[in-house]
Amino acid sequence: MDDIVSKADLTRAAQGLQKQARVESWWQRGVIYQIYPRSFQDSGGDGIGDLGGIIERLDYLVWLGVDAIWISPIFPSPMADFGYDISDYRNIDPRFGTLAEFDHLLAEAHRRGLRVLLDFVPNHTSDQHPWFLEARSSRDNPKRDMYIWRDPAPDGGPPNNWPSNFGGGGWQWDEATGQYYYHAFLKEQPDLNWRNPTVRREMYDVLRFWLDRGVDGFRVDVIWHLIKDDEFRDNPLNPDWTDGMPPHQKVLQIYNTDRPEVHEVVEEMRGVLEEYGSDRLLIGEIYLPVARLVAYYGRDLRGAHLPFNFHLIEAQWNARHLQRQIEEYEAALPEGGWPNWVLSNHDKTRIATRVGREQARVAAMLLLTLRGTPTIYYGDEIAMTDVDIPPERVQDPFERRVPGRGFGRDPQRTPMQWSGEFNAGFSTTSPWLPISPDAARFNVEAERDDPASMLSLYRRLLALRGESDALTIGSYTTVHASGDVLAYMREMGDERYLIVLNLGAAPAEITLPGPGRIVLSTKADRADERLRDRLRLGGNEGVLIEMMA
Ligand code: NOJ
Repeated sequence: MDDIVSKADLTRAAQGLQKQARVESWWQRGVIYQIYPRSFQDSGGDGIGDLGGIIERLDYLVWLGVDAIWISPIFPSPMADFGYDISDYRNIDPRFGTLAEFDHLLAEAHRRGLRVLLDFVPNHTSDQHPWFLEARSSRDNPKRDMYIWRDPAPDGGPPNNWPSNFGGGGWQWDEATGQYYYHAFLKEQPDLNWRNPTVRREMYDVLRFWLDRGVDGFRVDVIWHLIKDDEFRDNPLNPDWTDGMPPHQKVLQIYNTDRPEVHEVVEEMRGVLEEYGSDRLLIGEIYLPVARLVAYYGRDLRGAHLPFNFHLIEAQWNARHLQRQIEEYEAALPEGGWPNWVLSNHDKTRIATRVGREQARVAAMLLLTLRGTPTIYYGDEIAMTDVDIPPERVQDPFERRVPGRGFGRDPQRTPMQWSGEFNAGFSTTSPWLPISPDAARFNVEAERDDPASMLSLYRRLLALRGESDALTIGSYTTVHASGDVLAYMREMGDERYLIVLNLGAAPAEITLPGPGRIVLSTKADRADERLRDRLRLGGNEGVLIEMMA
C-alpha cells in the first residue's frame, strides 16, 4: 500500500513549484482540438475529408466543449506529405474546398464561439511551388537564394551529413544547375532559406493574408528547424542510436536545427500576430528537451505563446516519471510563461494504443486537469486506437521510405468514427485510409448517450474544467508520486481539487491530505462519494476530488 503526502512534500512543492501566470488570454483557459482534415468528415463523396465536412461537425465540437480547432494544412499541395508540401500559401486545395468555403467555415466557427487556428508550414515549400520552380531554373535566378543550395563536397558527394527526417540524406543533387539543395523532409519539400529577407517578408505576408481573413492563430510546423548553421558543419553522430530508432536519429541534429538565430524569426512572427491585437495565438511545433524547448517562449516572452510540449507523448507511463516530467517542465517555465500539454497528434501513436483503452481514460483526466492548455487529437475522445494498415493501402511517405519498422503515421490518421453505419459515417465512398475494425463499437453515436463511454468522460472533464478557476488557471502541486499513484492538487482561492491517478492495473489505496468529495471517477459512478482520509482506487482508475475547506 502506498502512502501519501508528507507535510514536507507539500511545503517543498508550495515553495518550488507553485507558479501563477498572469491570466489574460482565451487560450490560457481554452482547450484546443486538432483536426486532421483528410480524416475528419467527407462531405464531397471522394473518400477524403474536407472543409464542408468540418462545417457539418462544428456543432459536435461545441457540444464536446472545446474552444478552438487547429486544422492541419488545407492549402494547395501535390500531397507528397499530405499537405505539408505547399505549392500555394494563399489558397485552399480543391480537395478540401475553396477560399469562400474557408471564409464560411471561419464565420460558422466564430458564430459558435469556436476559434480557428491554421497550420503554417514555413520551413519548406513543395518542389512545385513557383518560387522553387524559378529557383531551380538557373543559378542566377533572383529566387535562387530563397532556398538552400550548396556545391558538392570535394569528393562530389553531398556537402555534409545533414539527414532527411524521412530516412536517407537531406541533400538532393540538381543535375541542371550542378548543386545540391537541402530538404529536412522529402526531396519534394525543399527547405526555405530563412536568412534571406525576401523569404521572411513573403512568409510574414502569408500570415497577414490569413489574419486579415480572421483566423485566430497558427500552429507553426517544425519551427525549431527554420535556421541552419551558416557554416554548414557536420552533425555529430548520436552515440545512443540503436537499430530500433528512426534513421535520422543516427546524428544529433545540432547544426541543422535549434540554432540561436531562430529566436529572432519566432519573435518576428509573433510581431506580425501582434499587429492584429493581443488575441491571436502562436504555437510552435518543437521536439526538444525541456530546457531547450522553453527557450521558444522567447526573450521577455516575445516568442511563441505556446511552444508545444510533447513530453507526455514520449513519457514512460509511471507515476515517478510523469511527476518528474511535470515538475521539470513547471520549474523550467519562464516567469509568466503559460504551460501546455499534448497526448497524441498526427505524427505519433495514439494514446489509447500506447497505454491501452482503460489507462487512456486516466490519461484524459491527466491531460484535462494539468496546469496548461491541453490539445486533444481528433478521435482520442472516442478512444480511437491506431489501425493496422495493409501494405497495399500505405499512404505515408515515411512508411514508404522506411517500410515495416513501425515509423509510418497512417495508423493514427484513419477516418473519424461518427457512427456504426457504412464507413463509420465518415464518407459515402471508400475512404483514403481504412476505417478501424472496431468502429461499430467506438463511435460518436454509440458513445454519445452512454455515461460509461470515453466520449462522456471527455465531455464531463471538459465541462468541469470550463467551470473551474482552480482546474484552468489554478496552481499545480504534486501531492504524491509513488508506486502506481500520482496525485496533485489544483488550487485557486477557496477552490481545491485533488486529482488521484492510478497508472497501474492493480487496485491501490492512499491517505488523503484531508476530507473531500469525489466529483468524477474515470471508472465507476462514484460521484458524490464522501471521503475522510483514505481513498481506494480500482486498477486504471483516476478520480477528481473536491477538497473540503
Ligand atoms: C511536422 C508535421 O507534423 C509532419 O506531419 C510533417 O511530415 C513534417 N513536419 C514536415 O512538414
